[in-house]
Amino acid sequence: MLGLGTVGQAVLSALTDNQETIAQRAGGPLNVKRALILHPERHLGHANLITTQWQEILADDEIAIVVEVMGGMEPAFTYIRRALAAGKSVVTANKEVLANRGDELFAAAELSGRDLLFEASVGAGVPVIRAVKLGLAGNRVHQVCGILNGTTNFILTEMAQGMVDYQQALAKAQALGYAEADPAADVDGHDSARKIAILASIAFSSRVVEADVRCSGIAQVQAADLAWGSRLGWVLKPMARARLVAEGLEVASYPAWVGPGHPLAHVDGIMNAVSVRAEPLGEATFTGPGAGGPATASAVLGDLIEAARNLRLGGHAVGCTCYRQLAIFDPARAEDAFYLRLTVRPERTVVSQIAATLAEHRVGLRQTLQAAAADGRGEVVVVTETCRRGDLDRALAHLAQSPSVFTLRPPLVVEAQSA
Ligand code: HSE
Repeated sequence: MLGLGTVGQAVLSALTDNQETIAQRAGGPLNVKRALILHPERHLGHANLITTQWQEILADDEIAIVVEVMGGMEPAFTYIRRALAAGKSVVTANKEVLANRGDELFAAAELSGRDLLFEASVGAGVPVIRAVKLGLAGNRVHQVCGILNGTTNFILTEMAQGMVDYQQALAKAQALGYAEADPAADVDGHDSARKIAILASIAFSSRVVEADVRCSGIAQVQAADLAWGSRLGWVLKPMARARLVAEGLEVASYPAWVGPGHPLAHVDGIMNAVSVRAEPLGEATFTGPGAGGPATASAVLGDLIEAARNLRLGGHAVGCTCYRQLAIFDPARAEDAFYLRLTVRPERTVVSQIAATLAEHRVGLRQTLQAAAADGRGEVVVVTETCRRGDLDRALAHLAQSPSVFTLRPPLVVEAQSA
């Protein structure tokens, strides 16, 4: 094992608790021989397992499978690549490595004839990699979308249900241990971006990397937005979506409003879900715990058992399934409906001025709502028709110049089924 943090310890516990079942399913017992740790001072137990020397693991021919649960790009990437090159199978939970340099690791696995398995990298306890890669292999996928970050789903759920502000909800997520060492990757949308890159690569058989994903986070969302959303009958979700459009693949990670009929509307707290639209399937949604040691351990163990069975009984896990390279669609041309919130001068003509500016940039208006704001200002919420993001950005740059507009919050996407 590489890493003995929350996930690593949960894997060790489950290996003991489910020992008999695991041995039966893996074709024999699984014994943990070494656990590499970077901070020996933090680990009081497992004295018989722990080492700080990576070479001890790499050079040990008795070690057939390496489980990487340390996270981060380096040294994890190098350790995984070298373990595969040394003829060991690798099970990893590392979305950062997979979403950025997955192709190199698949090549290393192919060369040595070993398995590279990564179910825990997306959706933690929801076995969605296998579902899409194997179970749906006969389909043509049109869209895969999901709630892939437990931390931000928890924060937005808290903000909506408790009407607390962003900072209070984040503090609670941290106190409960949901936020990672660096919460920026969660709240800025990068964690979701990595996961949708991995999922999109599989769903569309075309490699998508983190840099291909248009990304925006939840730090700008205010309690006032959630109150407006609730008036509209919507909830805000940390969305990740990959869809096939005429020009190629559009992949994004962003907060989005969903209506009560959306398959992700009732996925709350740290729960994750993935919804796939495909032919001949139709639509299917997979839901489960998306963060935390035990849920992640569940996925790691499934992979570990597959790798062990393959080594004992012969056989290989399915490797890279990308057989084509689709173009990544220009985000400025992406089409969505949007929610806008502005504070304005309380003049009677202000809504028609906003509508006129939007119309000049080919942005239609579906709905407007108004309320009095503090300091004698007015607040206006606008829901647009489906429009191009680039057109909306130009309209907003124009509106920002208007003497009638005081503040303009960042636009939020309204998902299609929310109308
Ligand atoms: N920080 C991640 C999340 C953990 O909140 O979903 C699982 O990858």
